[in-house]
Amino acid sequence: MCGIVGILGSEPVAGNILEALKRLEYRGYDSAGIATLENGRIARRRAAGKLKNLEAALDAEPLFGHLGIGHTRWATHGRPTADNAHPHLNGQVAVVHNGIIENFRALRDELEAKGHKFTSETDTEVVAHLVDDAIKSGLSPSDAVAASLPRLKGAFALAFIFEGEEDLLIGARQGAPLVVGFGAGERAGELYLGSDALALAPLTDELAYLEEGDHVVLTRQGAKFYDESNQPVARKRIRTAASAFLIDKGNYRHFMAKEIHEQPEVVARTLAHCLDLAAGTVALPFELPVDAASLPRLTIAACGTAFMAGLVSRYWFERIAKLPVEIEVASEFRYREAPMEKGGLMLLISQSGETADTLASLRYAKKCGQKVLSVVNVATSTMARESDVAALTLAGPEIGVASTKAFTCQLALLACLALAFGKARGTVDAKEEARLVAALMAVPGLIAEALKREAAVETLSRDLAKARDVLYLGRGTSYPLALEGALKLKEISYIHAEGYAAGELKHGPIALVDSDLPVIVIAPRDKVFEKTLSNLQEVAARNGRIILISETGAVDHLGAEGEEIGMPEMAPDFSAIVYAVPVQLIAYHTAVFMGKDADQPRNLAKSVTVE
Ligand code: F6R
Repeated sequence: MCGIVGILGSEPVAGNILEALKRLEYRGYDSAGIATLENGRIARRRAAGKLKNLEAALDAEPLFGHLGIGHTRWATHGRPTADNAHPHLNGQVAVVHNGIIENFRALRDELEAKGHKFTSETDTEVVAHLVDDAIKSGLSPSDAVAASLPRLKGAFALAFIFEGEEDLLIGARQGAPLVVGFGAGERAGELYLGSDALALAPLTDELAYLEEGDHVVLTRQGAKFYDESNQPVARKRIRTAASAFLIDKGNYRHFMAKEIHEQPEVVARTLAHCLDLAAGTVALPFELPVDAASLPRLTIAACGTAFMAGLVSRYWFERIAKLPVEIEVASEFRYREAPMEKGGLMLLISQSGETADTLASLRYAKKCGQKVLSVVNVATSTMARESDVAALTLAGPEIGVASTKAFTCQLALLACLALAFGKARGTVDAKEEARLVAALMAVPGLIAEALKREAAVETLSRDLAKARDVLYLGRGTSYPLALEGALKLKEISYIHAEGYAAGELKHGPIALVDSDLPVIVIAPRDKVFEKTLSNLQEVAARNGRIILISETGAVDHLGAEGEEIGMPEMAPDFSAIVYAVPVQLIAYHTAVFMGKDADQPRNLAKSVTVE
């Protein structure tokens, strides 16, 4: 989704804004722009497409101002053209915006009736007009922003600069994150605005997050925060570890490849955080926010890949902890008006901790008197801050738009949670706990083994790249993995793919099977292994092309032709975490063979902060 950067600097800022925007590229975008104050006048450069186009525009016509704002835009209202790119200007005001102004149409009609002329198709431009209108009515720029914010409906973050105001940068937050950074050392006195800590990481590690409804007025004297009633408030300064993470690809061609290969390490780190490795027991670093023994039900909501993690965990919570689970995609859950008995537990799963629908589900659950536990990867995210307990996955920043290491870290953490619930509910005794913990501790090593199968996946992917459609099948926890495989392939290679429960094949999708259709089957040696193999006979009988991801040699039991991605032997309990790896590699290599940008697939955004 869109990224925002603002710098109130002591030297020309355009270069640093551009660098910060590069660090926000991972969020997904399709145009970009920068505006600075040049001798008191606003000047801007904008370009459709990638940041290199904006860089070229800046090379052709450099900007030298010491105050500026920048933006990467993920189109919602209006096509991804240079004219629709931010910053948007009107009169004295330049603004960049993340999110959606839901009532922009009504505001635009009102302003047009007053004679305002609009030059873009965006919802954002209305903000520049509204604030400028307030300035023209006699308000100071900061009063004009304060007066305009209550008129805006929707979820958004904003940053403003103003003509003739060399010492004023204003940020506002309502539903989309925004952070203030404080310069130190040779940057002392500089102030920054950013959509996240990563954007600001090379500039500062000292931050203060705006709370919901806040706006902040930055001058070279410092930062003044105001709450939603426009009352001055203090917001805590924190130090972030984001700058410790180098955002580069190392020796990899794509962030996605790097992140896939980081999994043995980050999954081990997440597990080590939740297990007592020496004692071989589960040891969560937080208290469960409910009495697990008497909990009647667990409700889970999430989006996309995080939802698939939730689906996998349902099998674990039900099997290990005998805890009934209700799970729903957050975009549906938030509007379903599901009755929730007081005292229940809501579990949200989100890499970013900012996904609009998941956050709305969190708030709905709180309204219904639920305790909220969120599994998030960004410790400073809104979800982490609004939950009773935030359980952190320690995947580190995930830059590739397609989630990989965050997914396996979510699975690792959810497995530990299921185990903790099982212990608390008396469904897991000490012997079983030791067995399950040992199975979990083996996972990072098994992921490393699975990564050694990459050459076989590459060979297979060369062929898959020619397919029009691909079917993924699995049973048990391999069913959500089949859904995840199809999602991953679709999003980065643009090949149409479907995931199905293997037992559902004969209820419809079998009509698709012919010799042109690759059928990828995820079949670890678990209790449904034989059942899955027998479903494959249905595919073989119709000349379907079977690609089996299973223990090495399993293909020999197929009794039919099939290709194999051979996996190491393992206990079946948490095999989903390991089997996620070939599924990710297939999508990655297929996309690369097809010449697609695996890190920034078309139309996708990393952190989906709009509905
Ligand atoms: C797919 C993918 C998305 C995200 C989804 C939720 O590869 O990355 O489906 O999983 O947008 O995002 P978070 O986890 O940030 O809530």
